[in-house]
Amino acid sequence: MATPVPGEQIKERLRALYSRCEVEDRDAVASYYRSGRGYYPPQEAGEESERFGICLGRRNGELFGIGDDEVAFPLQSLSKVFSYALALADWGRDHVLTRVGVEPSGDSFHSIVFDEANNRPFNPMVNAGALVTSDLVRGSSPEEKLERILTCLRLFAGNDELAVDRDTFRDEMRDADRNRAVAYLMRDRGMIEGDVEGILGLYLQQCSVHVTCRDLATMAATLANGCVNPVTGERVLPLPRVRDVLSVLHTCGMYDAAGQWAYDVGVPAKSGVSGGILAVVPGKGGIGVYSPGLDSHGNSARGIKVCHEMSENLGLHIFAAEAEDAMLGDATPNAAF
Ligand code: DON
Repeated sequence: MATPVPGEQIKERLRALYSRCEVEDRDAVASYYRSGRGYYPPQEAGEESERFGICLGRRNGELFGIGDDEVAFPLQSLSKVFSYALALADWGRDHVLTRVGVEPSGDSFHSIVFDEANNRPFNPMVNAGALVTSDLVRGSSPEEKLERILTCLRLFAGNDELAVDRDTFRDEMRDADRNRAVAYLMRDRGMIEGDVEGILGLYLQQCSVHVTCRDLATMAATLANGCVNPVTGERVLPLPRVRDVLSVLHTCGMYDAAGQWAYDVGVPAKSGVSGGILAVVPGKGGIGVYSPGLDSHGNSARGIKVCHEMSENLGLHIFAAEAEDAMLGDATPNAAF
């Protein structure tokens, strides 16, 4: 195992990475999203177009943040990672697989398509699958299930303050017709049962929890560290299920851009419509990026660029050799860093 590089070098590389990605590629940004307002074009964006933060969490518990790394934003689809992990811990992989698959759908996150052969959603990262996994979380009521999901999020982030932002939730619930349609269709087909509004409310409350890049980096570093939070030292979930979560993130986390992502960036990752990206470098650490400008797939355009740079020029790709790691290892970067 290579000697851990000094924190100063990581800070220096992070500063260089930040400045390489600071100027937003306007052509890459297709829209912005805000709960209650929905999607809106770049020309209507205000100061949110300048928002940009990165944080990197190492397995030894060190966090390196830069820019808007302490600005809070809604988790949105990033929350799906943790409700899936909790459902796996509650029921085990075999039972969860009877309710939701692990196949990339090749479609967008809110597409109304199902794995007809198995009468289930394709995977837990698309909205249909996430509605099923939220419902799978053990609890005698949506309230009890929400408490368990919040506890799980707080343990992953090492932040007891994480909570549902009521304004975000109100707005998400008001504009939830498509999710509602998917949920009622799934109940019609027996993929979920019971109180559809309760299940929808549970899912949209987890989407409405506000986090920062620092929280995301800690959550990602916890996944990279076998589900032991490197900052708090607490075990969050049983070990065997971590590989299941990371495998699904790798193949499905970036929706209909997952193939290109696995090829170009090559680390398990998840995006959210508020502009957050969480990326996991197994055994090494985690990355949290926040930049609200979205590309045509609904993923943060600057976030994608940061992760591309980390993979291409700093060797953070799961199939890269140790000798290529110039971010957490002592390799020389491929570009001027
Ligand atoms: O359920 C929804 O559609 C939103 N609350 C979350 C969607 C989202 O984050 C998609 N990710 N890129």
